[in-house]
Amino acid sequence: MPDSAASSPSSSRRRILLTSALPYANGSIHLGHLLEHIQTDIWARFQRMRGHECYSVCADDAHGTPVMLKAQELGITPEEMVAQTRDEHHRDLLDFGIEYNNYYVTHSEENKQLCETVYNKLDAAGYISKRTISQLYDPEKQMFLPDRFVRGTCPNCGAEDQYGDSCDVCSATYSPAEMKNPRSVVSGATPILKDSEHYFFDLPQFESMLREWLSSGAVQTEMANKLNEWFEQGLQQWDISRDAPYFGFEIPNAPNKFFYVWVDAPVGYMASFLNFCASNDLNFDDFWQQGSDTELYHFIGKDITYFHCLFWPAMLEGAGYRKPTGVNVHGFVTVNGAKMSKSRGTFIKGRTYLDHLDPEYLRYYFASKLSENVTDIDLNFEDFAQKVNADLVGKVVNIASRCASFITKRFDGKLSETCADESLMNAFINASQSIAQRFEARQYHHAIREIMALADRANQYIDAQAPWVTIKDESLQAHTHAVCSLGINCFRMLVTYLKPVLPRLAQQAEAFLNDNLTWDSVKAPLYGHAIDKFKPMMQRVDMDKINAMIEDSKQSLSASEDSAPVPKKPPTSKIDPIAPTIEFDDFAKIDLRIALITKAEHVEGADKLLRLELDIGEQTKQVFAGIKSAYQPEQLEGKHTVMVANLAPRKMRFGLSEGMVLAAGPGGDDLYILEPHVGATPGMRVK
Ligand code: MSP
Ligand code: ZN
Repeated sequence: MPDSAASSPSSSRRRILLTSALPYANGSIHLGHLLEHIQTDIWARFQRMRGHECYSVCADDAHGTPVMLKAQELGITPEEMVAQTRDEHHRDLLDFGIEYNNYYVTHSEENKQLCETVYNKLDAAGYISKRTISQLYDPEKQMFLPDRFVRGTCPNCGAEDQYGDSCDVCSATYSPAEMKNPRSVVSGATPILKDSEHYFFDLPQFESMLREWLSSGAVQTEMANKLNEWFEQGLQQWDISRDAPYFGFEIPNAPNKFFYVWVDAPVGYMASFLNFCASNDLNFDDFWQQGSDTELYHFIGKDITYFHCLFWPAMLEGAGYRKPTGVNVHGFVTVNGAKMSKSRGTFIKGRTYLDHLDPEYLRYYFASKLSENVTDIDLNFEDFAQKVNADLVGKVVNIASRCASFITKRFDGKLSETCADESLMNAFINASQSIAQRFEARQYHHAIREIMALADRANQYIDAQAPWVTIKDESLQAHTHAVCSLGINCFRMLVTYLKPVLPRLAQQAEAFLNDNLTWDSVKAPLYGHAIDKFKPMMQRVDMDKINAMIEDSKQSLSASEDSAPVPKKPPTSKIDPIAPTIEFDDFAKIDLRIALITKAEHVEGADKLLRLELDIGEQTKQVFAGIKSAYQPEQLEGKHTVMVANLAPRKMRFGLSEGMVLAAGPGGDDLYILEPHVGATPGMRVK
């Protein structure tokens, strides 16, 4: 368990409760989830280091049809399955250094009680109504079918085997009853339409409250704007009940009717906290009653904004509770520029990552990319390795390793009593405020940039002072001592600033420094202080381990789990015939190289071409490629591809084209550049 509060409270001590979205209990924690938990954990650790009272809670989201069916498949009860998955999820998160004050499960007595309380209050206030609706029903399995459990032919474009709510081919949305040839995914039977009475929550009543809350700064402006579109379409009554069989909580006085999982899931935030309060002498109401002066933040992904920014605040308001201070929405993780894919091995589970790589690498990489907005975050493994190696190993830890041995061997393990360079020391101390502001505003990428700029300064200082030279000069002993001690103090301050991001590195550094680092530690540099012998703290990222992790991710999936992206269009017959046979020597003349697209831009006056700058190791080439109808320039930058590097340059109207990139497809928007497997680097010859 984390310390709920650190020692020295700053001027006014805030009381904060944080949550991350509750992972579903029917799948493993993957890199996408981890972005969110790492974002939350960094914020929680930062607030605690600042001396605030900050709690973070989470839980497994236990209920709903997918969980129920998966348990049936496994031949265990949903309760058993959920208990196992919760433990597995919790262990995965802990191993990434993500520490919640409580990691609970929504299938709990507290949650059942709270759901009933919330529902009864909403009902008493007149926000619940009943109405009969007609839905697809599986006559064999004898259950109503959620949209995702019906497949059939798209009523719009005729594509086969589409989901019951939307078509992957033409993007049309529809109701499952509109599909042609529908069938139940559960049993294969043809569903029938069946009537049933449902319970509805009167969302439209909350429109003006929601508009006000959304414009109060509780969510990012870009999200608030998006939500305004929902108001324009008109808010709808929300269907909050599901018929048996359903794994969930029964609605009071409504036998065989269950709360829809999205009702009890957010109430699960309250329940997890209530469960924590019971054993920690904390007052639940302080954090949840209307008018509370504590702060409440939810960290979520953009796909679940609707639930957190419309339904949830309306439920809270209607039932007489406080509303969130903020809902912090983040974008999605992509890997090597594309949606995580099981077949490419980029759908990486947390546990698979841990089998190969240090969790602190991922915490650092995500922090270096996380901002306060909703843009997607690409985990590019080359960039990942490069950044961790250059910043953490090459800059931060390096400072300590360069200075420590002199302190240990020549100065009795003790830092000097004097400061070698006041202005450098002060620059480090004074950065505290601005770095804190960056963390507070969730601009972690800015915080990291500032911290690394300091690390650069420290390294430049040590380079210039060259203690490994001055150490040989007896008359410069005091000076050398002060220089190395300043280096150690710089290292200490860098680690302090990085502590919310890298708790394990901080722990090792604390042992080495004989010190306990709080945010205010930087105000008091160490003089005449004894340090321990330096031990290596972080290893370089090894590309082989990344490749092994990707291989493992390919192996750990069963065919049915695969979610390779659907091609933009159904396959066409426009396949070129195979060309006449050539000799090997003909092929060997073509020099194919791995190229990194460092820049891609439109060419004025050209309707088919993009101008690309390609890094092929030793040199950079400019190529005009006819791929404009298939790609936006920004989709290409940072991607690796393959180019013909020895093609005779061709003078074009727009400039010199010094080669060709390889792409496949008939043309137009049906064109795909070749991308090498991860691990191939610019300049490698393709043979
Ligand atoms: N159970 C619901 C949340 C209920 S909260 C009251 C749910 N679960 S989930 O497992 O599908 O997702 C949990 C969180 O992970 C969500 O915030 C979701 O946006 C986030 N992510 C899932 N995949 C993601 C990425 N690829 N990238 C970033 N976040 C992603 O939704
Ligand atoms: Zn369609």
